[in-house]
Amino acid sequence: MGNGERIDPWSSDQSTDYGRIIEQFGLDSVDPSGLPNPGMLHRRGIVFAHRDLDVVVGCMERSDPFGVLTGLMPSGRMHLGHSMVIDQVRWFQEQGADITVTVADLEALATRGTSLSKGRETAISEYIHNYAALGLIPDTTNVYFQSSRPSVQRLAFTLGRRTNLSEFESIYGFSGSTNLAHVQAPLVQVGDIIHPQLEEYGGLRPIVVPVGVDQDPHIRLTRDIAQKTNWFNVKPRKSGGLTVALSVQDENKTKMGFNINGGVDRTTRSTLFERMESGLSKIGFSDIFSNPKHGTLEIPGATLSDRFQVRMTMLAMEREMGGMGLLPPCSTYHRFAVGMTGDKMSSSKPETTIFMDDGLDEMSKKVKRALSGGQPTVEEHRRHGGDTDKDVAFQYLQYFFEPNDAELDEIKGGYESGRILAGEIKQICIERASEWLTELKDKRDEWEGRLDDFLAQDAS
Ligand code: TRP
Repeated sequence: MGNGERIDPWSSDQSTDYGRIIEQFGLDSVDPSGLPNPGMLHRRGIVFAHRDLDVVVGCMERSDPFGVLTGLMPSGRMHLGHSMVIDQVRWFQEQGADITVTVADLEALATRGTSLSKGRETAISEYIHNYAALGLIPDTTNVYFQSSRPSVQRLAFTLGRRTNLSEFESIYGFSGSTNLAHVQAPLVQVGDIIHPQLEEYGGLRPIVVPVGVDQDPHIRLTRDIAQKTNWFNVKPRKSGGLTVALSVQDENKTKMGFNINGGVDRTTRSTLFERMESGLSKIGFSDIFSNPKHGTLEIPGATLSDRFQVRMTMLAMEREMGGMGLLPPCSTYHRFAVGMTGDKMSSSKPETTIFMDDGLDEMSKKVKRALSGGQPTVEEHRRHGGDTDKDVAFQYLQYFFEPNDAELDEIKGGYESGRILAGEIKQICIERASEWLTELKDKRDEWEGRLDDFLAQDAS
């Protein structure tokens, strides 16, 4: 990371010390056995951490609505590293999620100087075309552009009131010379992540954002801001159960039962609490202790797993009362695949990665030159075996090209025992990658000229 405690979302140099990242940023680790039909990336520990993923899993179990928000930077060509998020999006879609895809054309303009028209072209021809080929279903997928969705920009502006320049300096390392378009980019991303919860985009429901850890600063910022807007806080109670507490803010003071002098207006306050009690009794809580004067309400019988329902009830009520009623986004984090050379994967160094439209020859050349985990001589290799942690061909089979766990284990065992040689594992990788790239190309051809199916109304 190179800059102490901070992650720079715009740097390609990211830490891969995932254990430390989990600790440092207070993430939870993913337990694939807790997921319905865990996907390949979950089973293999590649999706390693999350925030509030249990909320989304609960929705899957109850068949409640939930959404996915993902974003792409429309600059450069799409490569394997970008496809990992789409694997997860597809999995969420299979589990019932609706999908919103942000084309971060404003961010690409701000941080890379990509013009909006170029960004648009790249997004569709490079990214959306491959998303389609990777199997996203158009019926429940909506692609939009940051530059042409006013409600996202409006949120970026209005939610901007909940943060300030010092916070941005400490989160992102911005300073006096930072371009102001760049300063706005994180707030636009907050708008991206929040806006599917607006009534016109599907309304109140959990939204999960699958990302690489480099994006966590944006996730934390968004969660923080969403929480600051909430009119009711639902917290675990020390002695068991849940507490709902009023969060009094300038714009809700009167509705929260304060009069102009700052004193409590008893009538309004008790009406509010009756309303809260009635809402909560509708979802099955009868043992409720209200303390209108303090602005708190206790539900001793509620468990932590009731927290979500209670929260949803309070957010719905907040919306009826005129508040925004926002859930903090959930998120998942995937590991980064190593670059083919053993360094970081980077679009600007084509030898470090495989692009979605690389020809088979090009791909083969890269795999053949890729960093090997084999021993210097055949004799030594037969005796000591290869190192799958280091071997790039193996890693690529694991991350991308070999979906069958039993086959992958077989290859791993063979390589580590020395039965499979370094050149042979590369050959296996080339074979599987050839199938994968060929199928992807066929699918791309099938989608040629039909990508409008994926675009939202304001995108076409
Ligand atoms: N910042 C992201 C990137 O650098 C792109 C992006 C914009 C995004 N809005 C988003 C990603 C919302 C996830 C969710 O790639």
